Amino acid sequence: MKVWLLLLASICLLGCNMSSNTYDNKKEKDVPIIKISSLENLSNRAVVDLEKITFDSIQIPRTIEEGKMKGTPSKSWTSGFYPGLLWQLYGHSKNEKLKEAAMKWSAIVEKEKMDGGTHDLGFKVYCPFGNAYKITNEEKYKDVFITAAKTLCSRFNPKVGAIRSWDHHEHLWKYPVIIDNMMNLEMLFEATKLTGDSSFYHIADQHANTTLENHFRENNSSYHVVDFNPNTGEVVKKNTHQGLSHESAWSRGQAWGLYGFTVAYRYTGKEKYLEQAQKIAAFIFNHPNLPDDLIPYWDYDAPNIPNEPRDVSAAAIAASGLFELSTHAPQNAGQYQKWANQILKSLASEKYQCHTPPFFLKHSVGSIPGKFEMDAPIIYADYYFVEALLRKDKI
Ligand code: GLY
Repeated sequence: MKVWLLLLASICLLGCNMSSNTYDNKKEKDVPIIKISSLENLSNRAVVDLEKITFDSIQIPRTIEEGKMKGTPSKSWTSGFYPGLLWQLYGHSKNEKLKEAAMKWSAIVEKEKMDGGTHDLGFKVYCPFGNAYKITNEEKYKDVFITAAKTLCSRFNPKVGAIRSWDHHEHLWKYPVIIDNMMNLEMLFEATKLTGDSSFYHIADQHANTTLENHFRENNSSYHVVDFNPNTGEVVKKNTHQGLSHESAWSRGQAWGLYGFTVAYRYTGKEKYLEQAQKIAAFIFNHPNLPDDLIPYWDYDAPNIPNEPRDVSAAAIAASGLFELSTHAPQNAGQYQKWANQILKSLASEKYQCHTPPFFLKHSVGSIPGKFEMDAPIIYADYYFVEALLRKDKI
């Protein structure tokens, strides 16, 4: 009897283990491995993967769950990354198959330009259409993200001096502004550059300034969510949503800040934004909990380091931000490029490569408190990885 029970328990354990790892190495053995260390290889890999992904308007690639590709509809904040990634790789390779696919997947997302119920318009609309415009110079793409920029401005409250991030969780926050929102400003700055209408610039600049004044702690790490009183503009509370705790440093949030303030400096030339980007870089890369391969744990204060999930997405975003930052800060350029190059080298190693279509990288974290994508391939990690490689190429 005891032997049977033991046998049964072992089978159960084996089963559980396998199901939590299905996307991982085991299944990938059947897939031809294309090394992802160069843009050429990534473009080839993306072309091969097109054949393996069914085109479906409510399944835009996002992650792998239980061994299967999991997609999202256009409403999700991640919907622009797969088409944006295809545009980036088309821009590099000029492979028409990538362009055709990029156009098809972008078309699904276009309607989001009218959705004033979210701040994620930069992620959703600018990633595909901003890249499409830069690469093809076709006016129709520019019009899409200028419309999205107008929609995003409808979320600006002059009393607060910031764009409202979320409408959800109303029981917790009246006017939440999250550090991630810095990433939506590029579309506004670009809208002013292309139209001559300075209102986009002023909103983006005020948003960056309000974030600078309220999101950062003494040590230059940032809070995730700052809640404001929409009538007076006063700060009500400083919280987290995806980090370990209100006072911890959520890794992807730090990366959004580094990248976002670098962009704010690119368009405004304001030294205070450049200084903040550099201070964030110093916080991240001098942190005692940052591993030697420079791929951070999901939160710098996670309690069980080194037995905590890494967040490859945070590393990829930071690498891309660092390459740009190095062009604005000549005295630290060597150091910033060294860190960014180390991240790219680590990500191209077998440990982080994903061979399941259409993903390039594994070991990202969506939300540990939310209990989803707790150690998974996620499309935005791939998007910023490719962007970082493209930036490295141009330096
Ligand atoms: N903007 C949502 C996230 O970084 O997860």
